[in-house]
Amino acid sequence: MAVGTLIVAAGSGQRFGGPKQFERVGGITLLEAAIERAKSISNRIVVALPAGIELPSSNSELAYTVGGDTRTESVANAFRALGDRFDYVLVHDAARPYASQALFERVVAALARGCLAVIPALESVDTLKVVEDRMVRETLDRNKIVRVQTPQGFQYELLAEIINSRKEATDEAAIAEQLGYPVTIVPGEELASKVTWRADLERLRLPRVGLGF
Ligand code: C5P
Repeated sequence: MAVGTLIVAAGSGQRFGGPKQFERVGGITLLEAAIERAKSISNRIVVALPAGIELPSSNSELAYTVGGDTRTESVANAFRALGDRFDYVLVHDAARPYASQALFERVVAALARGCLAVIPALESVDTLKVVEDRMVRETLDRNKIVRVQTPQGFQYELLAEIINSRKEATDEAAIAEQLGYPVTIVPGEELASKVTWRADLERLRLPRVGLGF
């Protein structure tokens, strides 16, 4: 069972106020934290970094490449840099540095059971509404809504097809769905929430204590 992991870290962090992947928390950057969590389950990790910075040196287990203008392009570049075929490929946001090893394992376990595409999800405790021009157009049924996280897992050939389709989306699972493939949900975790705003660091700092960091 060979696992390749793509960590996308090429965003500009506009809402954060700078490239958050290089922000240091507890002595290491958010990107390093994400790599640490992915390491134990991955045979090879490829990290997509912003254009214009010097890439760290790569080796067979950890390689760096340049990302693209969109997350989808960054995933495609990292996938190409993966080189070999792996049984499963995980796609992970560097912006979710505290996703636990247990979550990575849960995603891979579902792939090993034969699921084609696997995504962690949490229930939505808030009611979500579709809004246009500051007016509510629709209220969604909360019982049918989940919040989706990463790592997202794919059988290798499916991710290759997703990338070759050249479709754009906020995640690859959405493209799998558009292509008509089943996407399986596994339980997500609050720790895997995305760091978007500076305040998210404070929110995520507390649960990190005692997690062997
Ligand atoms: O922008 P968003 O919050 O969707 O970013 C999710 C992840 O995708 C982040 O880890 C970010 O660094 C990455 N990303 C990327 N290349 C881009 C845009 C976002 O690797 N062009």
